[in-house]
Amino acid sequence: MLQDKITQYTAEINAFSTANADELEQFRIKFLGTKGIIKDIFDEFKAVSPEEKRSLGKVLNEFKQLAEAKYQTLKEQSEVADTSTDSGLDLTLPGEGFEVGSRHPLALVRREIIEIFNKLGFVVAEGPEIEDDWHNFSALNFPEEHPARDMQDTFFIRKGGENGDIALRTHTSSVQVRMMEAGKPPFRAIMPGRVYRNEAISARAHCFFHQVEGLYVDENVSFADLKQTLFYFVQELYGEGTKVRFRPSYFPFTEPSAEMDISCTICKGDGCQMCKHSGWVEILGCGMVDPNVLDNCNIDSKKYSGFAFGMGIERIANLKFEIKDLRLFSENDARFLKQYKTSLI
Ligand code: DAH
Repeated sequence: MLQDKITQYTAEINAFSTANADELEQFRIKFLGTKGIIKDIFDEFKAVSPEEKRSLGKVLNEFKQLAEAKYQTLKEQSEVADTSTDSGLDLTLPGEGFEVGSRHPLALVRREIIEIFNKLGFVVAEGPEIEDDWHNFSALNFPEEHPARDMQDTFFIRKGGENGDIALRTHTSSVQVRMMEAGKPPFRAIMPGRVYRNEAISARAHCFFHQVEGLYVDENVSFADLKQTLFYFVQELYGEGTKVRFRPSYFPFTEPSAEMDISCTICKGDGCQMCKHSGWVEILGCGMVDPNVLDNCNIDSKKYSGFAFGMGIERIANLKFEIKDLRLFSENDARFLKQYKTSLI
Protein backbone atom coordinates (compact mmCIF):
# COMPACT_ATOMS: atom_id res chain seq x y z
CA MET A 1 0.00 0.00 0.00
CA LEU A 2 2.57 2.57 1.17
CA GLN A 3 4.98 1.32 -1.46
CA ASP A 4 2.36 1.95 -4.18
CA LYS A 5 1.83 5.50 -3.01
CA ILE A 6 5.55 6.18 -3.01
CA THR A 7 5.91 4.79 -6.55
CA GLN A 8 3.03 6.92 -7.78
CA TYR A 9 4.34 10.16 -6.16
CA THR A 10 7.89 9.47 -7.33
CA ALA A 11 6.61 9.40 -10.90
CA GLU A 12 4.70 12.63 -10.27
CA ILE A 13 7.78 14.39 -8.86
CA ASN A 14 10.01 13.18 -11.68
CA ALA A 15 7.54 14.50 -14.24
CA PHE A 16 7.11 17.83 -12.52
CA SER A 17 8.75 20.92 -13.98
CA THR A 18 8.01 24.62 -13.78
CA ALA A 19 9.64 28.01 -14.06
CA ASN A 20 6.73 29.61 -12.33
CA ALA A 21 7.25 30.63 -8.70
CA ASP A 22 3.57 30.10 -7.73
CA GLU A 23 3.44 26.59 -9.17
CA LEU A 24 6.65 25.77 -7.39
CA GLU A 25 5.23 27.01 -4.11
CA GLN A 26 2.19 24.74 -4.66
CA PHE A 27 4.59 21.84 -5.20
CA ARG A 28 6.41 22.65 -1.94
CA ILE A 29 3.19 22.83 0.08
CA LYS A 30 1.87 19.64 -1.48
CA PHE A 31 4.94 17.52 -0.84
CA LEU A 32 7.15 19.25 1.73
CA GLY A 33 4.66 21.32 3.73
CA THR A 34 3.82 20.62 7.39
CA LYS A 35 0.56 19.00 6.23
CA GLY A 36 2.07 17.66 3.04
CA ILE A 37 2.35 14.20 1.48
CA ILE A 38 5.74 13.39 2.94
CA LYS A 39 4.52 14.17 6.43
CA ASP A 40 1.48 11.89 5.82
CA ILE A 41 3.59 9.07 4.48
CA PHE A 42 5.97 9.26 7.43
CA ASP A 43 2.96 9.13 9.76
CA GLU A 44 1.62 6.05 7.95
CA PHE A 45 5.08 4.51 8.12
CA LYS A 46 4.92 4.51 11.92
CA ALA A 47 1.99 2.05 11.74
CA VAL A 48 3.49 -0.56 9.38
CA SER A 49 4.82 -3.93 10.50
CA PRO A 50 8.50 -4.26 11.55
CA GLU A 51 9.39 -6.28 8.39
CA GLU A 52 7.85 -3.66 6.13
CA LYS A 53 9.68 -0.93 8.07
CA ARG A 54 12.99 -2.60 7.27
CA SER A 55 12.34 -2.76 3.52
CA LEU A 56 10.54 0.62 3.23
CA GLY A 57 12.79 2.79 5.42
CA LYS A 58 15.40 3.40 2.75
CA VAL A 59 12.83 3.91 -0.02
CA LEU A 60 11.05 6.45 2.10
CA ASN A 61 14.22 8.47 2.77
CA GLU A 62 15.15 8.44 -0.90
CA PHE A 63 11.66 9.64 -1.75
CA LYS A 64 11.97 12.55 0.67
CA GLN A 65 15.41 13.48 -0.75
CA LEU A 66 14.02 13.35 -4.28
CA ALA A 67 11.25 15.82 -3.42
CA GLU A 68 13.66 18.17 -1.67
CA ALA A 69 16.23 18.04 -4.49
CA LYS A 70 13.56 18.69 -7.12
CA TYR A 71 12.33 21.70 -5.20
CA GLN A 72 15.86 23.15 -4.79
CA THR A 73 16.75 22.73 -8.46
CA LEU A 74 13.55 24.31 -9.72
CA LYS A 75 13.86 27.14 -7.22
CA GLU A 76 17.38 28.05 -8.37
CA GLN A 77 16.31 27.92 -12.00
CA SER A 78 13.30 30.10 -11.41
CA GLU A 79 15.40 32.71 -9.56
CA VAL A 80 17.80 33.06 -12.52
CA ALA A 81 14.89 33.16 -14.93
CA ASP A 82 13.15 35.80 -12.82
CA THR A 83 15.99 38.33 -12.79
CA SER A 84 16.58 37.95 -16.50
CA THR A 85 12.97 38.43 -17.49
CA ASP A 86 12.27 41.28 -15.06
CA SER A 87 15.02 43.71 -16.08
CA GLY A 88 15.84 42.38 -19.52
CA LEU A 89 19.39 41.77 -18.29
CA ASP A 90 21.06 38.40 -18.13
CA LEU A 91 23.17 38.66 -15.01
CA THR A 92 24.91 35.42 -15.79
CA LEU A 93 26.72 36.98 -18.77
CA PRO A 94 30.36 38.06 -18.20
CA GLY A 95 30.87 41.78 -17.43
CA GLU A 96 31.89 44.29 -20.08
CA GLY A 97 35.21 45.25 -18.51
CA PHE A 98 36.54 48.76 -17.88
CA GLU A 99 39.36 49.98 -20.07
CA VAL A 100 41.78 52.48 -18.57
CA GLY A 101 43.49 54.65 -21.17
CA SER A 102 47.23 54.96 -21.47
CA ARG A 103 49.64 57.78 -22.13
CA HIS A 104 51.53 57.99 -25.39
CA PRO A 105 55.19 57.03 -24.83
CA LEU A 106 56.30 60.37 -26.28
CA ALA A 107 54.07 62.20 -23.81
CA LEU A 108 55.59 60.18 -20.97
CA VAL A 109 59.12 61.01 -22.03
CA ARG A 110 58.34 64.68 -22.66
CA ARG A 111 56.84 64.92 -19.18
CA GLU A 112 59.87 63.29 -17.62
CA ILE A 113 62.25 65.66 -19.41
CA ILE A 114 60.20 68.67 -18.30
CA GLU A 115 60.15 67.47 -14.69
CA ILE A 116 63.92 67.03 -14.58
CA PHE A 117 64.61 70.51 -15.97
CA ASN A 118 61.93 72.04 -13.75
CA LYS A 119 64.06 70.97 -10.78
CA LEU A 120 66.90 73.09 -12.20
CA GLY A 121 64.63 76.11 -12.60
CA PHE A 122 63.91 75.76 -16.32
CA VAL A 123 60.42 76.89 -17.35
CA VAL A 124 58.51 75.56 -20.38
CA ALA A 125 58.07 77.77 -23.45
CA GLU A 126 56.36 77.11 -26.76
CA GLY A 127 56.29 78.63 -30.22
CA PRO A 128 54.42 78.26 -33.53
CA GLU A 129 54.88 75.28 -35.84
CA ILE A 130 54.50 77.53 -38.90
CA GLU A 131 57.54 79.77 -38.87
CA ASP A 132 59.13 82.50 -40.96
CA ASP A 133 62.63 82.31 -42.33
CA TRP A 134 63.94 84.74 -39.70
CA HIS A 135 63.02 82.66 -36.66
CA ASN A 136 63.79 79.26 -38.16
CA PHE A 137 67.00 80.19 -39.98
CA SER A 138 68.32 83.74 -40.34
CA ALA A 139 68.29 84.82 -36.68
CA LEU A 140 69.97 81.50 -35.87
CA ASN A 141 72.94 82.47 -38.00
CA PHE A 142 72.22 80.12 -40.93
CA PRO A 143 74.11 81.49 -43.93
CA GLU A 144 71.97 82.40 -46.95
CA GLU A 145 73.19 79.40 -48.94
CA HIS A 146 73.04 76.86 -46.08
CA PRO A 147 71.89 73.44 -47.36
CA ALA A 148 69.29 73.06 -44.56
CA ARG A 149 67.25 75.80 -46.22
CA ASP A 150 67.06 73.66 -49.31
CA MET A 151 63.70 72.38 -50.53
CA GLN A 152 64.89 68.87 -49.69
CA ASP A 153 64.70 69.37 -45.94
CA THR A 154 62.15 72.08 -45.40
CA PHE A 155 58.43 72.06 -46.10
CA PHE A 156 57.93 75.56 -47.46
CA ILE A 157 54.42 76.96 -47.24
CA ARG A 158 55.24 80.15 -49.16
CA LYS A 159 58.42 81.20 -50.89
CA GLY A 160 59.31 84.88 -50.77
CA GLY A 161 56.75 87.49 -49.76
CA GLU A 162 56.84 90.33 -47.23
CA ASN A 163 58.47 88.50 -44.30
CA GLY A 164 60.45 86.11 -46.46
CA ASP A 165 59.78 82.38 -46.72
CA ILE A 166 57.16 80.74 -44.55
CA ALA A 167 57.75 77.09 -43.63
CA LEU A 168 56.94 74.37 -41.14
CA ARG A 169 59.65 74.75 -38.51
CA THR A 170 62.49 72.29 -38.96
CA HIS A 171 63.60 72.49 -35.32
CA THR A 172 62.52 73.96 -31.99
CA SER A 173 65.55 76.29 -31.97
CA SER A 174 63.17 78.87 -33.48
CA VAL A 175 61.51 79.17 -30.06
CA GLN A 176 64.85 80.38 -28.59
CA VAL A 177 64.73 83.35 -30.92
CA ARG A 178 61.12 84.15 -30.07
CA MET A 179 61.85 83.93 -26.37
CA MET A 180 64.93 86.16 -26.49
CA GLU A 181 63.22 88.72 -28.73
CA ALA A 182 60.29 88.96 -26.35
CA GLY A 183 62.11 89.31 -23.02
CA LYS A 184 65.23 90.22 -21.10
CA PRO A 185 67.88 87.87 -19.69
CA PRO A 186 68.20 85.73 -17.67
CA PHE A 187 66.47 83.05 -19.76
CA ARG A 188 66.23 79.53 -18.50
CA ALA A 189 63.70 77.50 -20.48
CA ILE A 190 63.01 74.27 -22.28
CA MET A 191 60.86 74.23 -25.38
CA PRO A 192 59.18 71.01 -26.41
CA GLY A 193 57.37 70.73 -29.71
CA ARG A 194 56.77 69.10 -33.06
CA VAL A 195 59.08 69.74 -35.99
CA TYR A 196 58.88 68.86 -39.70
CA ARG A 197 61.36 67.75 -42.34
CA ASN A 198 60.87 66.69 -45.90
CA GLU A 199 62.01 63.09 -45.47
CA ALA A 200 60.63 59.84 -46.86
CA ILE A 201 58.90 57.91 -44.07
CA SER A 202 60.73 54.77 -42.96
CA ALA A 203 61.58 52.94 -39.75
CA ARG A 204 64.42 55.41 -39.14
CA ALA A 205 63.09 58.72 -40.51
CA HIS A 206 59.80 60.57 -40.48
CA CYS A 207 58.45 63.78 -41.92
CA PHE A 208 57.58 65.00 -38.44
CA PHE A 209 59.03 64.28 -35.03
CA HIS A 210 59.45 65.95 -31.65
CA GLN A 211 62.24 67.89 -30.03
CA VAL A 212 63.02 69.58 -26.76
CA GLU A 213 65.15 72.69 -27.02
CA GLY A 214 66.97 74.12 -24.00
CA LEU A 215 68.27 77.65 -23.47
CA TYR A 216 70.12 79.27 -20.61
CA VAL A 217 71.31 82.86 -20.98
CA ASP A 218 72.70 84.98 -18.18
CA GLU A 219 75.92 86.74 -17.19
CA ASN A 220 78.96 84.44 -16.96
CA VAL A 221 77.34 81.28 -18.27
CA SER A 222 80.12 78.89 -19.29
CA PHE A 223 80.60 75.57 -21.05
CA ALA A 224 81.08 74.03 -17.57
CA ASP A 225 77.48 75.02 -16.74
CA LEU A 226 76.33 73.33 -19.94
CA LYS A 227 78.20 70.13 -19.11
CA GLN A 228 77.00 69.98 -15.51
CA THR A 229 73.36 70.65 -16.50
CA LEU A 230 73.32 67.93 -19.14
CA PHE A 231 75.22 65.51 -16.90
CA TYR A 232 72.58 65.96 -14.18
CA PHE A 233 69.81 65.49 -16.75
CA VAL A 234 71.25 62.20 -17.96
CA GLN A 235 71.74 60.82 -14.43
CA GLU A 236 68.11 61.65 -13.62
CA LEU A 237 66.71 60.24 -16.86
CA TYR A 238 68.77 57.08 -17.33
CA GLY A 239 70.07 56.45 -13.83
CA GLU A 240 73.22 57.25 -11.92
CA GLY A 241 76.38 55.91 -13.43
CA THR A 242 75.32 56.69 -17.02
CA LYS A 243 78.44 58.12 -18.64
CA VAL A 244 78.50 61.14 -20.95
CA ARG A 245 81.01 62.36 -23.51
CA PHE A 246 81.10 65.46 -25.68
CA ARG A 247 82.35 65.44 -29.26
CA PRO A 248 83.13 68.67 -31.14
CA SER A 249 80.49 69.44 -33.77
CA TYR A 250 79.06 72.28 -35.81
CA PHE A 251 75.76 74.15 -35.64
CA PRO A 252 75.35 77.64 -37.09
CA PHE A 253 73.76 78.95 -33.88
CA THR A 254 76.34 77.74 -31.33
CA GLU A 255 80.07 78.29 -30.98
CA PRO A 256 81.70 76.10 -29.83
CA SER A 257 79.26 73.28 -30.62
CA ALA A 258 79.20 69.69 -29.45
CA GLU A 259 77.24 66.50 -29.70
CA MET A 260 76.69 64.56 -26.52
CA ASP A 261 76.83 60.77 -26.31
CA ILE A 262 75.81 58.63 -23.37
CA SER A 263 76.96 55.14 -22.50
CA CYS A 264 74.51 52.77 -24.19
CA THR A 265 71.46 52.32 -21.95
CA ILE A 266 70.71 48.91 -23.45
CA CYS A 267 74.07 47.11 -23.10
CA LYS A 268 75.63 49.48 -20.52
CA GLY A 269 78.56 50.04 -22.83
CA ASP A 270 79.40 46.43 -23.68
CA GLY A 271 78.30 46.81 -27.29
CA CYS A 272 74.99 45.94 -28.94
CA GLN A 273 72.91 46.69 -32.02
CA MET A 274 71.52 49.90 -30.53
CA CYS A 275 75.00 51.46 -30.11
CA LYS A 276 76.38 49.73 -33.22
CA HIS A 277 78.82 47.96 -30.90
CA SER A 278 80.52 51.20 -29.91
CA GLY A 279 79.11 51.36 -26.38
CA TRP A 280 77.97 54.98 -26.98
CA VAL A 281 74.81 56.55 -28.38
CA GLU A 282 74.32 60.15 -29.43
CA ILE A 283 71.40 61.90 -27.76
CA LEU A 284 71.69 65.62 -28.40
CA GLY A 285 73.39 68.61 -29.93
CA CYS A 286 74.51 71.56 -27.83
CA GLY A 287 76.88 74.48 -27.53
CA MET A 288 77.42 78.05 -26.40
CA VAL A 289 74.91 80.39 -28.03
CA ASP A 290 76.72 82.14 -30.89
CA PRO A 291 77.15 85.88 -30.08
CA ASN A 292 75.60 86.64 -33.50
CA VAL A 293 72.37 84.96 -32.35
CA LEU A 294 72.29 87.01 -29.14
CA ASP A 295 72.84 90.20 -31.15
CA ASN A 296 70.14 89.21 -33.65
CA CYS A 297 67.73 89.00 -30.71
CA ASN A 298 68.86 92.33 -29.23
CA ILE A 299 70.70 90.72 -26.32
CA ASP A 300 74.04 92.35 -25.49
CA SER A 301 76.55 89.62 -26.36
CA LYS A 302 79.33 91.50 -24.51
CA LYS A 303 77.42 91.23 -21.26
CA TYR A 304 75.56 87.97 -21.64
CA SER A 305 76.48 84.45 -22.66
CA GLY A 306 74.47 81.28 -22.77
CA PHE A 307 74.22 77.67 -23.73
CA ALA A 308 71.64 75.81 -25.76
CA PHE A 309 70.85 72.22 -26.54
CA GLY A 310 68.35 70.28 -28.60
CA MET A 311 67.27 66.66 -28.50
CA GLY A 312 64.79 64.42 -30.29
CA ILE A 313 62.10 63.01 -28.00
CA GLU A 314 61.69 59.91 -30.20
CA ARG A 315 65.39 59.16 -29.76
CA ILE A 316 65.15 59.46 -25.98
CA ALA A 317 62.03 57.24 -25.96
CA ASN A 318 63.76 54.73 -28.21
CA LEU A 319 66.57 54.38 -25.69
CA LYS A 320 64.12 54.08 -22.80
CA PHE A 321 61.62 51.68 -24.34
CA GLU A 322 63.60 50.18 -27.25
CA ILE A 323 61.04 51.27 -29.81
CA LYS A 324 62.99 50.68 -32.98
CA ASP A 325 60.48 51.71 -35.66
CA LEU A 326 59.70 55.45 -35.67
CA ARG A 327 56.41 54.86 -37.48
CA LEU A 328 54.92 53.22 -34.38
CA PHE A 329 54.81 56.62 -32.68
CA SER A 330 52.31 58.07 -35.11
CA GLU A 331 50.25 55.07 -36.23
CA ASN A 332 48.18 55.08 -33.02
CA ASP A 333 47.83 51.31 -32.93
CA ALA A 334 46.08 50.65 -29.60
CA ARG A 335 48.02 47.39 -29.14
CA PHE A 336 51.25 49.41 -29.16
CA LEU A 337 49.99 52.31 -27.06
CA LYS A 338 48.39 50.12 -24.40
CA GLN A 339 51.81 48.83 -23.36
CA TYR A 340 52.64 52.20 -21.85
CA LYS A 341 50.08 52.21 -19.08
CA THR A 342 50.97 54.55 -16.29
CA SER A 343 49.65 55.43 -12.90
CA LEU A 344 50.18 59.10 -13.71
CA ILE A 345 46.78 60.35 -14.80
N1 DAH B 1 68.43 72.38 -33.81
C1 DAH B 1 69.31 71.24 -33.88
C2 DAH B 1 68.66 70.15 -34.76
O1 DAH B 1 67.51 70.22 -35.03
C3 DAH B 1 69.55 70.65 -32.52
C4 DAH B 1 70.37 71.56 -31.67
C5 DAH B 1 71.74 71.47 -31.69
C6 DAH B 1 69.77 72.52 -30.88
C7 DAH B 1 72.52 72.29 -30.92
C8 DAH B 1 70.56 73.34 -30.08
C9 DAH B 1 71.94 73.21 -30.13
O2 DAH B 1 70.05 74.29 -29.30
O3 DAH B 1 72.68 74.03 -29.35
O4 DAH B 1 69.35 69.26 -35.17
